[in-house]
Amino acid sequence: MSFWKRHQIVEKNSILLIIGILLVIAVGGFVEITPLFYLKSTIEKVDGMRPYTPLELAGRNIYVREGCYLCHSQMIRPLRDEIERYGHYSLAAESMFDHPFQWGSKRTGPDLARVGGKYSDEWHVTHLVNPRAIVPQSVMPGYPFLAETDLEVTGVVEHLSTSRVVGVPYSDEQIANAAADLKAQADPDSDGADALQKRYPKAVVRNFDGKAQRLTEMDALVAYLQMLGTLVDFKLYNEKANLR
Ligand code: HEC
Repeated sequence: MSFWKRHQIVEKNSILLIIGILLVIAVGGFVEITPLFYLKSTIEKVDGMRPYTPLELAGRNIYVREGCYLCHSQMIRPLRDEIERYGHYSLAAESMFDHPFQWGSKRTGPDLARVGGKYSDEWHVTHLVNPRAIVPQSVMPGYPFLAETDLEVTGVVEHLSTSRVVGVPYSDEQIANAAADLKAQADPDSDGADALQKRYPKAVVRNFDGKAQRLTEMDALVAYLQMLGTLVDFKLYNEKANLR
């Protein structure tokens, strides 16, 4: 009996065919799933990643609250046009402290994964208050109230300790100083700035919203935007991968 004759047996018996299909799928499934039980982590370690500072985290909360993710992604795909426009493609490790992640699924506006340092703080404040002041044809809504709303300081310690429960490695020291760090990052004249930068390498201390007397939601959101994509030194990785 030739192979094709024998194959007819399966084709004519649907139960046998279903069992056969299930067996083949099971093999594929095992090959994909079994290694996950042995790998310690599926996220490759990357130098430079650190948890968000309390002020950045507060800004991130505002980003989520205002639904910025509905129009902006934070995930640069490994495609040439994206890399040329936005920079090095996103690494899994860059979102490992994100709960929930902000990859997004729609780009009405540009990807923001590497927007940090691209513009000045003043640019961001002007743009967030009224995007059309900078890009006349922009469809992005304005958020002028952020500059007028004092940042809520309560809850920051709880947010850090809750993040630790889900795996963000905040130290006891970082949690204990969260409220002070939150204020220090937006106040370059304060004594806390040095301590903050020791606890969070590469943290930028600036008066983000341009108003020295007040700690506003604008301070937090701009602090967050300005750190996006700035933690990993991609010169290192670009040389290795021979990208630009
Ligand atoms: C209705 C969709 C929409 C929403 C919601 C939205 N944006 Fe935008 N955003 C855009 C569009 C379109 C642009 C491009 C034109 C411009 O610069 O205004 C843009 C541009 C930007 C830029 C400049 C990016 C670059 O690389 O030039 C930043 C930063 C930004 N948005 C931040 C935010 C933040 C923060 C929020 C939430 C508070 C937000 N956006 C909400 C549509 C949106």
